[in-house]
Amino acid sequence: MSTHHRYPWTVSAMHWLLAALVGANFALGWLLDDMEALMAAHRALGIAILGLALLRIVNTMRVRRRLPASVNPAGSLPHLGEKLAHGLLYLCLIAIPLLGWLKTNAAGHGLSALGWALPTLVERNRQLSHLFGDLHAATATLFAALIGLHIAAALWHQLAHPGQGLARMLPIGPKRQRGG
Ligand code: HEM
Ligand code: HEM
Repeated sequence: MSTHHRYPWTVSAMHWLLAALVGANFALGWLLDDMEALMAAHRALGIAILGLALLRIVNTMRVRRRLPASVNPAGSLPHLGEKLAHGLLYLCLIAIPLLGWLKTNAAGHGLSALGWALPTLVERNRQLSHLFGDLHAATATLFAALIGLHIAAALWHQLAHPGQGLARMLPIGPKRQRGG
């Protein structure tokens, strides 16, 4: 079992950066109302989230031996629930921007990031554009529910076992392990 009590600082930094960016992109997504400037910002931020999420996964694999053990007993139902929820959160971070990308291409628009043209994943197709748009909206709603559950679980752990909840995911504080 891991003897580490906190997440390495690179993991917590990426966790909170992505949480802030995802929150902002939900706000933009819900405000979208045929306003091209908002839509452009939503797409650009969403592509940045996709890139950062891939970097985050690579980083988590890099530091996997220094990740703290779960606060839930290994093999228990809450432990399985936690693994499932974290896996689904990662899946959403990748799948939702990809569905947005597919929707944008199917609607006949190209995408670029940092001045580089991104590949066109599907040709223009009205039906697919509607399908990917609906899937993007539906999975984003599920993602919002999952994030709500995740926050509730984090707050519950914080109240039930002070010091084992939010503190584990803060980039600063006592008992920080060396390296990141
Ligand atoms: C984690 C990243 C993202 C989140 C959380 C997110 C969330 C949302 C939400 C909540 C909506 C409103 C859905 C509704 O009508 O109820 C939306 C719409 C939309 N998003 Fe995203 N989005 C993300 C990434 C992207 C990306 C990367 C793109 C494109 C490159 C994109 C393109 C769109 C488009 C085109 C719509 C309008 C869909 C339609 O009207 O059918 N999104 N998004
Ligand atoms: C877009 C929003 C969020 C996503 C996608 C997300 C995702 C994750 C994931 C995947 C983990 C597992 C550790 C890792 O692999 O990095 C995690 C851990 C954690 N998250 Fe979030 N998170 C989000 C927002 C939040 C918010 C708003 C809070 C604040 C209440 C929070 C509190 C925590 C805590 C305390 C942990 C550590 C759990 C433990 O003790 O092991 N997260 N998060």
